[in-house]
Amino acid sequence: MKMQRIPMLVFLVALAIVGVRAGEPALGTGAQLLAPFKRDLQQALKAGLGEGPEAAINVCKLEAPTIADALSIDGVRMGRTSQRLRNPANGGPEWVAPILQSYSLNAAERQPRTVSIASGRSGYVEPIMVQPICLTCHGERLSPAVSSQLRTAYPQDRATGYKVGDLRGVFWVEFPN
Ligand code: HEC
Repeated sequence: MKMQRIPMLVFLVALAIVGVRAGEPALGTGAQLLAPFKRDLQQALKAGLGEGPEAAINVCKLEAPTIADALSIDGVRMGRTSQRLRNPANGGPEWVAPILQSYSLNAAERQPRTVSIASGRSGYVEPIMVQPICLTCHGERLSPAVSSQLRTAYPQDRATGYKVGDLRGVFWVEFPN
């Protein structure tokens, strides 16, 4: 009985792999393009936090856009955006807005998504969730030093008051097909 199930299982797994490849080829591309951005941001944040939160704020301010620019080559553009921005310059492209909206309205929608955005171009979006390490600068209770530094650098800051597990925003990338 059990032996007969194995070929069926192999068949279903093969079908799933082929299905994913045929149906969503760009999902892998988007995730791959974002990987170094996510890695470099995280490294910069950790290195910055090693020097204290005030130094880390400067790292985020200066390095996040520099890392995104360095990786935005050959028709590829990427960045982070949010429904509650800290830096108004992080608005993101227009096609991201409806996806961000659906992520923020419905937790069940928070899956990475690939969309066709123009002829020959695709977009890919991934949700960013709040982790404990984020609370120093995005949480409900900030230290007075962090608070005052953020007020000075980002007078329009809306990116505080988050809890672990909240949707903080999205990573987005667009690329030629
Ligand atoms: C040391 C303080 C600090 C920590 C810790 C921190 N951030 Fe930020 N974050 C910032 C600053 C400063 C900016 C604005 C960067 C800029 O000017 O582009 C920012 C911007 C962002 C943005 C871009 C959208 C916007 O609002 O401008 C996202 C998304 C984000 N942070 C997510 C996170 C997540 C997720 C974590 C935890 C993994 C985290 N941050 C940890 C300081 C911090």
